[in-house]
Formats: sequence, C-alpha cells, structure tokens
Amino acid sequence: MNSVPKTFRVKSFGCQMNVYDGERMAELLGADGLTAAADGEDADLVVLNTCHIREKAAEKAYSDVGRLRREDGSKPLIALAGCVAQAEGAEARKRSPMIDMVVGPQAYHRLPEMVADAVRGARPVDTEMPAISKFDAFPKRRRANPSSFLTVQEGCDKFCTYCVVPYTRGAEISRPWTDIVNEACELVESGAREIVLLGQNVNAWTEGDRGLAELIRELDRIDGLERIRYTTSHPADMTDSLIEAHGEVEKLMPYLHLPVQSGSNRILKAMNRSHTAETYLAILAKVREARPDIALSGDFIVGFPGETEEDFTATLNLVDEVGYASAYSFKYSPRPGTPAATMEDQIAPELMDERLQRLHDRINTHQTAFNRASIGKETEVLIERRGRYAGQMIGRSPWLQSVHVETDAVPGDVVRVTLAAAGPNSMTGSLITKVAA
Ligand code: 5AD
Ligand code: SF4
Repeated sequence: MNSVPKTFRVKSFGCQMNVYDGERMAELLGADGLTAAADGEDADLVVLNTCHIREKAAEKAYSDVGRLRREDGSKPLIALAGCVAQAEGAEARKRSPMIDMVVGPQAYHRLPEMVADAVRGARPVDTEMPAISKFDAFPKRRRANPSSFLTVQEGCDKFCTYCVVPYTRGAEISRPWTDIVNEACELVESGAREIVLLGQNVNAWTEGDRGLAELIRELDRIDGLERIRYTTSHPADMTDSLIEAHGEVEKLMPYLHLPVQSGSNRILKAMNRSHTAETYLAILAKVREARPDIALSGDFIVGFPGETEEDFTATLNLVDEVGYASAYSFKYSPRPGTPAATMEDQIAPELMDERLQRLHDRINTHQTAFNRASIGKETEVLIERRGRYAGQMIGRSPWLQSVHVETDAVPGDVVRVTLAAAGPNSMTGSLITKVAA
C-alpha cells in the first residue's frame, strides 16, 4: 500500500510530441485532484515521459528513475511513460523495481486509474494500443503557452530501417478534423498565439479527401491565432497542395523541417527512405518557389552501417546545396528489433564522432550565414519568455530564429523589430513597436 499522492511532476524527454503528451497527462492528473509540485518541491508522484529514439536516451530513463530515491530511502510513486515504457513493457520493472507503473503513449488516458491501482499496491502495466482514442479522455485545454503544441497525427508506417518509432508509436493514425479544430480554438482562447501541429509524420495527416493543407487553411480562419507551424514531415508526403499553402496561407510560417537523413542514394536505399537526394532537392526547389524566403531545416544520421567517406561527402554536399537555416545531426544508434541493428559494417564510434563534428561544423556555417543574411530585416517576433537580464524578452521570428529584444512586452505579445546582431543560435532585435497582444 502507498499513500494517495497529492502532488505530481511530469518530466518529458525527447521530441515535441512527448512535451505535448506531458502537458496532457498533467492536465489529466490535475482534473483528478492532484496539484503540480512547485519547482524544487518533492512530488508524491513522478511521471517520467521517456524517449527511445537513441540508446543514450533510453539509458537516461533508467538512471533518472534511480535518482528519484530520496535521502531517507523512501521514493515517490513512479510512472514510466513514453516510448521506453512502450518498448520495454513489464521488462522495465525487472530492470528497475522502483517503477510502480508502466504506461505506453496510447494508454495515457488510464493514468489516474493506474495511479489508484498502484496506491492499492498493484504494479499496473498498460502498453495496449486501443481503438478508442486517448484524446477523448483528456480534459479541455485551459492553459496555453504563446506557442502551443497540438498533436494531429501519431505513428509511422514508413519503417526506416534504423527507427523504433513504428514499433513504439504504432501505425499512422490521424485525429479527427473536428477534434483538432476544437482543440485549436480552446488553445487560442487560453492564450495561444501560435500553434505547432505535431505528428511523427505530420504531413501524412488525412481525413477523407482532405490533407494537412486543408487543415491548415481551416485553422488560418481562427481569430486571434497569429501563426501556424507543423513538424515533423516526411518527403514522401510533401504534397503539392501543402507546398502551395506555403505560398498562400499568411499565418503559415516560412519554416519547414524536412528530414533527409543522408545525401547518399546508396545509404538512403539501405535506410528504406523512399526518396533520393535528387527527389528531396526537387521538393525543396518547389517549396522555395512557393515561398522564396523559407527557412529550411532537416535531420541527419551519420555513421549508418556501411557509410563510406564517399557517402558522407555526399551528405556534406547536400548540406551545401540546400543551405539549411538549421539542422539536427545524430550519430547512428542501433535500436533493438530494427533491421539496421543487425546489418554488417557497423561504423566505429571514433569515425562517427569525427563525421558528426565535420557535419556540425558545416551546418553551423550555413546557420550562421542564414542568420547574418537576416540582419537589417524588419519583422515580427512572438514573445515567449523572459530573458536573462531585466527588460530582456525572448521570442521567435517567423523563420524560427530565437530573438532577444529589450521591451516591456509580455509573453504572448507580438512586437515589430529590426533584426540586428546574429550568432549561430540567436539574434538580437531592436524594437520598433508593439503590434498585438
Ligand atoms: N539513430 C540515430 N538517429 C536516429 N533518428 C531516428 N532513429 C535513429 C537512430 N536509430 C533520428 C532521425 C530522425 C530523428 C528524430 O532522430 O534523424 O529524423
Ligand atoms: Fe522519442 Fe521518437 Fe518516441 Fe518521440 S516518438 S519520444 S522521438 S522515440
């Protein structure tokens, strides 16, 4: 038997969808009578919302569990949630008996029930992927950040040979149109000025004959919503209508995150990506035609099994050709159960380190160049939070650059600035005027 928890903390790792799920779990626990523990306060219930995408992330989950033991030897109730929970199921408790509950991403609606079971001394595990949607069980949105996430699609049917997501998040599922529009309205009423539509393959969202482009055009009509973004997309689902929307929908921000993973067609084939470097570049050319100022972003994996110096050079060349405004790069990490994990010619860690460094440097050069080219532009910044110094606020430009501004504006305000000094990761804006609150 455990005592009934009064306070909770949800800690999310990994992708933005985990951040979104973490917010929804917090709302669910709040509706069940628990209160969020204040910063630094010990919580009675801790939900670790984990990520399984790379090995380090999974290891981190277990060491985080261990660290929850208090000095007097007691511990809070612990729920392991997220993709590590999904992948490990009941095994997780064998690795760490401190874990009281294991809840997979499609079973979050059962969390309050599972907490009650755990209080009675049970050790519930739920990694089912039920037909009923967890979303129906979540309460209405009442608090929103100026920039808020909204999950519209989950799961993945693409089966890239390195990736666990099709196993941890399941098959591609689109949330219904009406539910999404209602949630967007709730978020805007609760203070959101920007909505970031989320999905592992967000541009595969579909209902009947409507796709993400139509959904974006509908959200564009919501009064008080200033900005729309979406992430993460797959090149195979980058339809012409979505590309057109980039040229036509004013609230759709000029930013696109479109992972490519490698510049080598041989590696792309081994990864089971359904594009080549050329077809990927052709999509970006169309996107740039529709929206010439668009900031492009991507993901890369270095050291995929069999990657030669020539393959890696093709990746560097692709980075140069695109001129990314930002990009993320990762060392290949073999994931249990994925085809690539048992491929021959796994790359030595030192070689991966060296390639990752070279790729970072190359991406950084382009990122700095993109930011420098923005100097002197007049633009709008959505203020999101306070900066480190008094009077300094931090927000985002339309191109997703982090912009520091001296202003008395508060989070949620939109200010007009001239972009000034640029670093690789942020810009300074000098205030012209406050536009909207
Ligand atoms: N190893 C390294 N990086 C990976 N990613 C996905 N799976 C792996 C893996 N096994 C990267 C991809 C993806 C991003 C979310 O994480 O680049 O786009
Ligand atoms: Fe991590 Fe992928 Fe799961 Fe997100 S979906 S938490 S990135 S494994």
